[in-house]
Formats: sequence, C-alpha cells, structure tokens
Amino acid sequence: MADVSGEAAASAGQSGTGDSASGNQTLSKRQMKKLLKQQKWEEERELRKQKRKERKQQRKQQRQNTQQENRGDGQSARKRPRREVAPSALRLVVDCSFDDLMLIKDVRKLHKQIQRCYAENRRALHPVQLYLTSLGGQLKQSMDEKDKGWVNWKDITIKEEHYSKVVAKDELVYLTSDSPNVLGELDQKKAYVIGGLVDHNHHKGITYERAKELGIEHAQLPLSSFVKMNSRKVLAVNHVFEIILAYLEKGSWQEAFFTVLPQRKGAVAVSQDQTNPQENDDNEEEESSSDSDLDAAEQTEIRD
Ligand SMILES: C[S@@+](CC[C@H](N)C(=O)[O-])C[C@H]1O[C@@H](n2cnc3c(N)ncnc32)[C@H](O)[C@@H]1O
Repeated sequence: MADVSGEAAASAGQSGTGDSASGNQTLSKRQMKKLLKQQKWEEERELRKQKRKERKQQRKQQRQNTQQENRGDGQSARKRPRREVAPSALRLVVDCSFDDLMLIKDVRKLHKQIQRCYAENRRALHPVQLYLTSLGGQLKQSMDEKDKGWVNWKDITIKEEHYSKVVAKDELVYLTSDSPNVLGELDQKKAYVIGGLVDHNHHKGITYERAKELGIEHAQLPLSSFVKMNSRKVLAVNHVFEIILAYLEKGSWQEAFFTVLPQRKGAVAVSQDQTNPQENDDNEEEESSSDSDLDAAEQTEIRD
C-alpha cells in the first residue's frame, strides 16, 4: 500500500491536483483516499470489462441452451435424432398425370397433400424414396406460386416424365382401392404408385383402369382385413403415403391404419367390431387437405 500511496501522491502532483504554486502540497487524507480509489478503479477497468464479457457470454450460452431445450421438447414427437433414421429402399411414386381432370381448388388440395407427404417423409424413421412424376400444368403452377421453396426439396426425385418412363414396368405396383388384389407385405424392390388425384369420386376406378392398360401390378391396401370404417375405403394421397411410412416403422398394418386414419373415418379394429358398420359409398372422398393439416411449423420446414 505504501508504494501505491507514493505513486498516488506523485501522480496527484503531476495531474495538478496539488497546490499549483508550490506543486508539492500534501493531499488531505480524504483526497488521498479518493485518489487511491480512483486509481484502483482505473486499474481494475480491464478486469471489469473482462468480467462483463464473461457474464454476457454466459447469458448468451444460457439462452441458447434454453432455446435448444424448447426446440427439443417441441420437436421430439415430430423430428427424430438423425442417428435413428434408416432410409428404406422402397419407392413411393405420386403420379401427377391427372392434372387436367382437376379444378384448381382440387389441385391446391393435392398440392397440400404432396407437401404433407414430403414433410412426413423428411421426419420418418424409415423414409422412402419419394418420386413425383408427370409434374406440370396447374400443380406445378400452384407450387411455383404458393411454395417456391419446393425447388430446394431434398431426397425427392421430381420428373416431368410419366412414371412408366422412370421406373421399370415390372417393378411398378399401382395402389388403387378398386384393385381386387390386396396388399400383403411391402416389397422393398418395388415402386408403389399413388394416384395424385383429388376427384371426390368423380373418376371412380380411373387409376385401376390406367394400371390395367399399362399392364402393371396393382393392389389395394388391406383396409378391410384390419379395420372397419363408416366411410369409403378411398383415402387421400397423404393418408396412403403416411400409412406406408407407419407400416415401415411399426411392421403392422393395423397399427399403421390406426395411427394415420382420421377419427372421422370411424375406424374400428375388425376383431372388436360388433356393429359391422356399413361402408357408405356416398361419403365424401377422404381429402385431408384442410389448412389445419399443415401446421405453421410444417409449412416452414417445407420452405426450408
Ligand atoms: C383420392 S384417391 C383417388 C381416387 C381415384 N378415383 C382413383 O381411381 O384412384 C388418391 C389415391 O390414393 C390411393 N388410394 C386411396 N385409397 C386407397 C386404398 N384403399 N388402397 C390403395 N390405394 C388407395 C390411390 O392411389 C388413389 O389414386
């Protein structure tokens, strides 16, 4: 302390705080104390700066941790850690060749269903090889207008060509509710085609006819074997897609159907069904294309 006082006194003399006439007037005790305090304050400036910096960094780190935790909570059900993901070799093709059969409002619904397929596949445990074929016309226009980010979609094959030009014929299986064949196991070597169509049953049987014309395999989902529903067995594109994803994850059609089918389909397990509800052919086609089907987070993710 003695040294410091000496320095302080000297510096006080230099800085002119002493008597200007004599230049060496001794400082009062109070002045000396004040000076020492000031000097200490100056000396510790760097230290304080350093501590402020550290506190700021700590707060930043804390904020980041909280954000990460929140994101983790919010997404845990939707997004899995990447390490669990095991992509499937199975190909799922959305056949968009029915564009000119749809009114623009139905094209918009189909667009949302396709967005949903893409988003679900991105977060699936066993994502499939997703294809969009015959993309053009009103659907492409809707995508360009409403969701420009589609050009950056990952892990998807998008073609203007018909699916029969993209996949070998003997590998194709058209999924259609009108087929007399019922799907059993999924064959990883096959490409399963879903009709990209929202038609309110105006074009009943069209995909079945197309598959027969082309001479490719076809099959319906084994809905009747596992669930009884109080509406028709014609499902929306994204529901068929999600059922396949759920089947790949759970290995059970029944679980897959119950995970995906909306409540309003009134699905009950076949074994539990006592009432045997009638299938009602007048029921509206399952569209699943209301805005609520794509929440904000999904839409953001799609645009990413
Ligand atoms: C809304 S439906 C289109 C219905 C259309 N009238 C047709 O003939 O396929 C959309 C697509 O989902 C698939 N799909 C719907 N329900 C199905 C089921 N029960 N089994 C297999 N595929 C189904 C078909 O590929 C169908 O083309």
